[in-house]
Amino acid sequence: MLERHGFRKTDATRLRDFLSLFLRARDEGRVLMSLGEIYHLHRLVSATSPVPGETAEVGVFRGGSARIIAAAKGDRALYLFDTFSGMPREDPAFDPLRGGGFAGTSLAAVASYLRDFPSIVFRPGSFPESAREIPPGLRFSFVHFDADLYLSTRTGLEFFYPRMNPGGVILAHDFGAPTCPGVSKAWEEFFADKEETTIVLPPRQAYIIKRQKSEGRSEK
Ligand SMILES: C[S@@+](CC[C@H](N)C(=O)[O-])C[C@H]1O[C@@H](n2cnc3c(N)ncnc32)[C@H](O)[C@@H]1O
Repeated sequence: MLERHGFRKTDATRLRDFLSLFLRARDEGRVLMSLGEIYHLHRLVSATSPVPGETAEVGVFRGGSARIIAAAKGDRALYLFDTFSGMPREDPAFDPLRGGGFAGTSLAAVASYLRDFPSIVFRPGSFPESAREIPPGLRFSFVHFDADLYLSTRTGLEFFYPRMNPGGVILAHDFGAPTCPGVSKAWEEFFADKEETTIVLPPRQAYIIKRQKSEGRSEK
């Protein structure tokens, strides 16, 4: 069918594989993102497969978007950061519209949901404290932020940006979303003095590609 509409065989196969992945996650009630947003996530994870380094997500909830990353990551490890018990407390001054929620999950349930994928590393707890045990030399090629909150996004960028290899991608969900103003605020403040250009994917995603000569925070 897709081939009859001019799709090359490899592109048609890739699109069919993606759609069955999306439909399965949707039918399981795990998807909190739109078809277009999941497509961007899947393509950016795949596109970074030649870049050395692992993958990560901050804001996992029930594992819907993590499963998309897991399916596209190849041999790379996937580090998953979440309380797995609901939103952490945050200052309402930063996130006036947010408060609580996302308690209907557990580490055991998400681990079971992702059990077929290799190299999944769970870091339960409140970020950034939950990142303390990450070895300082670990580098990343793809990171997804979907934590909704200012401080979670800000501390996430501070942690991951210096650990991104050149060519790696940081993707944020809820960028520009009126329900999560802290996400864009944290992102725009953080990247104000960086070389990377923010590429906005309307209505509510944005990403950067880590540059070769970026002078981000130095690593010891
Ligand atoms: C919108 S949900 C994630 C949805 C998921 N990415 C998906 O699409 O399937 C946001 C999650 O971020 C988590 N979160 C936000 N800030 C956090 C922090 N500082 N530490 C740990 N988890 C956090 C919440 O517990 C919640 O599960």
